[in-house]
This record gives sequence, C-alpha cells and structure tokens, in this order.
Amino acid sequence: MRMPAKIFLALGAVTLGSLLMHYGGRRRGSGERVPSDDGAPCSRPAAGGKAKRTDVTFLKTHKTAGSTVQNILFRFAERNGLTVALPKQQCGHHFCYPKTFSANFVHPHTLPPNIIGNHLRFDAGELRRVAPPRAVYVTILREPAAMFESLFTYYGQRCQSFRRVPGGSPGAFLERPLRYYRPQDKNSNYARNTLTHDLGGDKDRPAADAAYARAFAARVERVFSLVMIAEHFDESLVLLRRLLSWDADDLVYVKLNVRTAASKRCLSPGLAGKVRAWNWIDAHLYDHFNASLWRQLAAVGSACVARELRLLRAAQERLYRSCFGGRRPLLSSAGEIRNKELRPWQPSARVGILGYDLPGNLSRPFSGRELCLRVVMPEIQYTGILLRSQSARYRRNHQR
Ligand SMILES: *[C@@H]1O[C@H](CO)[C@@H](O)[C@H](O)[C@H]1NC(C)=O
Ligand SMILES: *[C@@H]1O[C@H](CO)[C@@H](O)[C@H](O)[C@H]1NC(C)=O
Repeated sequence: MRMPAKIFLALGAVTLGSLLMHYGGRRRGSGERVPSDDGAPCSRPAAGGKAKRTDVTFLKTHKTAGSTVQNILFRFAERNGLTVALPKQQCGHHFCYPKTFSANFVHPHTLPPNIIGNHLRFDAGELRRVAPPRAVYVTILREPAAMFESLFTYYGQRCQSFRRVPGGSPGAFLERPLRYYRPQDKNSNYARNTLTHDLGGDKDRPAADAAYARAFAARVERVFSLVMIAEHFDESLVLLRRLLSWDADDLVYVKLNVRTAASKRCLSPGLAGKVRAWNWIDAHLYDHFNASLWRQLAAVGSACVARELRLLRAAQERLYRSCFGGRRPLLSSAGEIRNKELRPWQPSARVGILGYDLPGNLSRPFSGRELCLRVVMPEIQYTGILLRSQSARYRRNHQR
C-alpha cells in the first residue's frame, strides 16, 4: 500500500517554539523578582551538583507518547551501563500485557534492573519485588478524546468491541457503547478506561461511583512522583529533568510511533463529551493530573520553566545538527525506510505507522552515530537489542 507522499505531523504540532512564545506572553506571578531572560534563576538547580538518579520505573501507557519516553529511558540506560528489566520471550515486547504484572514476567538476565519501561499493567506489590527500593515512579496520560480516537483507529481491527461497530465509526460506538462493548472481550482494555486499566484500576467500575475515581487518583498520586501529560510533553520533561537531575542532553527525543494523516480521524467536538462520559475514570485522572502538572510548574516559576525549555530546545537542536543535517527528521512510511531496524511495527493494513530513516550520507563514523540510530529506533527492535546485549553481559558475569 502506498502511503500519501505528504505527511502531516499532527501529534508533534506542539513545538518548543510555540511553548516559548506561550511563556513569553504569560503574566508572571507577583512572587517573582527577575524578568524572564537567560539569567533567570531557578529556585532549585535542575542538574549539576546532584547525582543523576538512575532508578526509574516508567509505566508506559497506550497511545500517549509513551514510546517516546521509553526511548529516552532506554538510551540513558545504555549510555550509563544500567540494566533495563525486559520481558521474558514468551511475553513478547511487553510484560504479558494486558495481564496484571507479575515479577515472573521479567527475563532473569535483566535482574535486578535500574529501569523498567515496557508496557505492563501496574501492580505496586509485584513491581516492588523487581524495582530497586529507591526507584522513582513516572507515568504519562493523554487527553481522553484524542486518546480514544487513537485507540479506536489503532486497535480497530484487534479489539472485538470496536470491530462490532458498523462502518467502523467512532460516533456509532460512542452513541451506544454498551451495545458493542463486552468486558470479557479480548482486548476490551483498549475500549474503556484504558489508562485506569494500565494503572491497575477497575475499568468497568459503574459510573455512579465517583468516590472510586477520586480514591483511585489519590492512590496513583501516592505511588507516582510524576504524572506527565502528553499534550504538555516538553513541560512534563522539565519536571522530569528536575526530578531525576539529568542533563538536558539526556532528554532529547524524536516523536515515535506517529500515524499517517490518512490514519487519523477528526472526532467532532460533540463526541468529546461522550468519550469523557464513557471513559469517566480516565477523564477524572486526566483532569486531576493535568491540574497537578500546572501547579508544579507554577511552583517552579514561569521564568525558570522558560529557561528550562530553552535548554531542552538547545539540546534538541544539537541532536538535529549531529544526526539529521540540522533539520527535524522526516517521517517516512515503513516501506520507504531502508534500514530494517528502523521500520516501525504496523498494527493493521488500515493504519500506517510512520518512522524515520537516517540521512543516507551519515556514513562517516562519528561518535554520535549510535545515538542517531537509537533515537529513531522503534520499541520492538530496541527491546530486542537491549535483551541481546544484557544477556551477553549476564553470561560474561556468570562465567567468572
Ligand atoms: C491543562 O491545564 C492547563 C492549566 O489549567 C490548561 O491551560 C490546559 O488547557 C489543560 N490542558 C488540556 C489539554 O486540557
Ligand atoms: C547530507 O546531505 C544533505 C542533503 O543532500 C546535506 O544537506 C547535508 O549537509 C549532508 N550531510 C552530511 C553529514 O554530509
């Protein structure tokens, strides 16, 4: 199948540039002394001085830019010789999702880990059996309507609840969801309160139970030090960098797992309310943690956040210069990507997932080449590479 030549990058449309303008135009709180310029102070230095934290458990949720965060963590682990917990072969590239996580799903050659970042359904007790005691817990959420559209399209063929819908219309599904949805269906986890399910909650709790949603958000808040928000990805990275004391260069990224324009639909504005009613626990979680993200950013201070965003942008530009000839890398359909290691997995013939190739003339050996390859590497290939290298290391260590 030919992909359209012209590809629009809607998911990545929030550029750092527009965020900086947003901050430039924002009124500063009365508590701030210094105008937003390059010398603006940050109350607590983000990095430098403090040792970088190396133990991170990232709950990778579905269709939320989680692959992009996972890629950041994988690269950090590789560069610093850390161990990433990886699934046993019989689980695939995730920890036997949608089953609830069990310590038995982890490949023994990847224990004890520093980083956990592959898909799993959260279980605090089982994760504590595997993760280091001082691990920082992080996850990411996405706005419910956008997330529903993405799930509906991506899993349209694999989720029975969606397959039953005549004409594959998200509007028809949302009109009478209970006509199509069965909790016991295979992959029903993609059809209702997917974030709640991934976080270990009860996706099928009756909507009258508002206390459940509040209690569940509180439970998530107790475990997770940071809940990122996909719509405010770079601001979320600012908080992540402060939490982990990493360098800006540790957080560079290229958006992964993006769909072709032809594989996206527009949900009419009226449908957003229906999505929220159907995925009401997710909607509550999202509102709760988006508000909490912005409270945390306000506490950091707008001048400091703007400065941090500039540091991230500068690091990002260094990446583009050394890997992609100074430009943002171009998205390509899988068939157009010469390097097989860089071809993303395609969920079905009806959905095109885009990836990246490295510039053909990037052959001269320079120190960043490995980084360039990794930063655009899809998760399945990267998981395989990490498992091979960590297994080899495990065998070396255990021969002695
Ligand atoms: C998140 O909250 C902020 C602050 O209240 C708001 O400006 C923003 O629109 C919210 N984001 C989304 C995607 O709803
Ligand atoms: C690779 O080719 C592009 C376009 O032909 C050019 O702009 C770029 O500078 C080249 N990069 C290298 C590293 O030679």
